Amino acid sequence: MDQTTSHALETPYVQAIEHESAGRQVIASGSPPLLSVTGLTVALADRPETRLLDAVQFELRKGEFFALVGESGSGKSVLCSTIMGVASSELRCLGDIHIDGRPLADVDRRQRAMIYQQPSLYLNPVRTIGFQLRETVQMVGGLSKKEASQRAADLLCDVGIDDPRETMRKYPHEMSGGMNQRVMIAMALAMKPKLLIADEPTSALDVTTQKQILDLLERLRSDMAILLVTHDLGVALQRSDRIGVLYAGQLVEIGRADLVDRAPLHPYTRALFSAVPPLSEHPRRLQSSSRSLPEPGQRQAGCSFASRCSGTLDICRRTRPALQGIPQQVVACHNLEA
Ligand SMILES: Nc1ncnc2c1ncn2[C@@H]1O[C@H](COP(=O)(O)OP(=O)(O)O)[C@@H](O)[C@H]1O
Ligand SMILES: [Mg+2]
Repeated sequence: MDQTTSHALETPYVQAIEHESAGRQVIASGSPPLLSVTGLTVALADRPETRLLDAVQFELRKGEFFALVGESGSGKSVLCSTIMGVASSELRCLGDIHIDGRPLADVDRRQRAMIYQQPSLYLNPVRTIGFQLRETVQMVGGLSKKEASQRAADLLCDVGIDDPRETMRKYPHEMSGGMNQRVMIAMALAMKPKLLIADEPTSALDVTTQKQILDLLERLRSDMAILLVTHDLGVALQRSDRIGVLYAGQLVEIGRADLVDRAPLHPYTRALFSAVPPLSEHPRRLQSSSRSLPEPGQRQAGCSFASRCSGTLDICRRTRPALQGIPQQVVACHNLEA
């Protein structure tokens, strides 16, 4: 990525994310972040005033399951592809991304892997699953064809495929969406990544398969950090340690999932969470409304939510609020009293 300018936020990011809520993993706040994103601004190269992401800032630690939620068009996929280092050449990225303390440009590409909503688009239709998985395994290093076949079969077992040898003979079109998604996850695991980014990995799947894939991701989390992009607030709340809420390119709130559920702080998060039924009623989908989200070219200075907020002050239109708050929940808002 282009990092000619470093874009720093005024307020230091709060690091501690330690918690012990039921069933969730305890992440040591003292450990250095696995992923650190600082002041990440992504704009159109030929129209720098059009920002798709604006000073995005957050961190992830090993073993953490972080859910990123936001309406369609808020910039979730742009953020994922930028972290992966595969942002479109039409975009200009400013800010810093570090993995394990090293700038993205110096990090081995295999340390991060991504799975997508439509695995069939990323699998080669004219190659068998076995060929593709073996190829990935061999790329990672040093195995003979036979050893790579065994490793490929083992990986398919790891992602819950019972008949790996049979599956390896199949082509992607002979498999269900859920099975292809498992194959994509197996390919990601072949890289032994430290960071797994899942961009709406279950949106195209039925509810049962969705649950299986999310269970699988949860099992994998102990070895890596997982960044899950989801439209489904229920999934975000039930599965993740922390939630980040993205609105029109700005990360407006980051907090421990249970705290965000119980007491969302940002007016946008509050609106989002009040518009959906309680946690038990699953799924809780974010409504995407093109009218509610300002287009990247029409975003004003200051808070991205100012034009929709009932508590807007003068400062909200002028100055972008920085994330602040207690370590477990930070919010970017000038008027928390409203
Ligand atoms: N290469 C690009 N060139 C111009 N605009 C883009 C490009 N990629 C994404 N965008 C715009 O950036 C905004 C965020 O897109 P995206 O990250 O795909 O949203 P999300 O994943 O949250 O639905 C959208 O308005 C989209 O049209
Ligand atoms: Mg997207």
